[in-house]
Amino acid sequence: MADFEKIEYGTYEAALEKSRELEINLVKNPEKYRVLTGDRPTGRLHIGHLFGSLQNRVNLHKLGVQTYIVIADYQVLTDRDTFENISDNIKQLTIDYIAAGIDPEDGKTFIFPHSHVPELNQLLLPFLTLVTNAELDRNPTVKEEIQASGQKRINAGMYTYPVHQAADILFCKGNVVPVGKDQLPHLELTRTIARRFNEKFANRQPVFPEPQPLLSKAPLILGLDGSQKMSKSRNNAIMLSATEDETASLIKKAKTDSQRTITYDPDNRPEVSNLLMLISLATGEAPELIAERIGDGGAGQLKRELTEALNEYLRPIRARRKELESDMEYIRKTLRNGIAEARKVAEATLSEVRKVMNMEI
Ligand code: TRP
Repeated sequence: MADFEKIEYGTYEAALEKSRELEINLVKNPEKYRVLTGDRPTGRLHIGHLFGSLQNRVNLHKLGVQTYIVIADYQVLTDRDTFENISDNIKQLTIDYIAAGIDPEDGKTFIFPHSHVPELNQLLLPFLTLVTNAELDRNPTVKEEIQASGQKRINAGMYTYPVHQAADILFCKGNVVPVGKDQLPHLELTRTIARRFNEKFANRQPVFPEPQPLLSKAPLILGLDGSQKMSKSRNNAIMLSATEDETASLIKKAKTDSQRTITYDPDNRPEVSNLLMLISLATGEAPELIAERIGDGGAGQLKRELTEALNEYLRPIRARRKELESDMEYIRKTLRNGIAEARKVAEATLSEVRKVMNMEI
């Protein structure tokens, strides 16, 4: 096998700086970009998703950038044994996207599960020949996920899903991928695969772009326990689909600390600061100012304000969710449209790929 250049993961700061430049260019020339983004259908979305990535996507969408959203159903099988809820999760995820402001009717936005796009999945085969086992083994995000899954026997899909993710991104020649920090290694692998593919098979006219990550400006949202990332499996999340009463009672139980006066100090008071940040994300007021205003009102007032701010912010989203839930045929139709478009694009890419690989008959 030919010698490959080493995969460089680079620093978070460098990625952040590039991402800010990209943001400026996106506003200037939205027509030059195609966004590809996605989630695993492991459950409904929570406010960590909403403030962390979903809103970023909605903003891009509003600029008029073409957006492909892949629901990575095959990837669910890489780190868990359960598959009973996948179909339901795909539809609930689609409902969350639309309720949050993604409009699949605009002719520029397509939502589809990758299991329904055979030509996309076929790209996995040539892509697997462009990386080494050692490289897959070194992926820091995969390593963490293996640890977190608690599984003793790791299936090969776990090591290769980042290559599958490269197929998700490259099948439509996506060049912007809104992601969180944990996805940066996957994106670097995608860029490497695109580069190696072009160098090996398409020297004169590159087939694939090297997609750029777009990092969200929102800070990491902690769960209501204040000690780790918000996530449904850690039982510390507020779901978009929760009722106002459920939201109130979850916030009531949120962890704070023993200091009465409220201050914004993420390093020393992570729990209180996270709640302040959530109010800030819902109202637009700076967290420092909210803290000053609450002051000696203490944790009680902090929680009351958060409950009110969040429920108000989520009210229209939740109302839209309800409407959509009662019209599953519309959701299925949205997915069918997304699949049809994704297949069209994937077929065209696959035929280009076959051509440069000398596999035409
Ligand atoms: N791996 C991503 C996650 O776990 C989901 C995903 C699959 C994805 N394919 C993608 C994200 C393509 C961005 C682009 O969240």
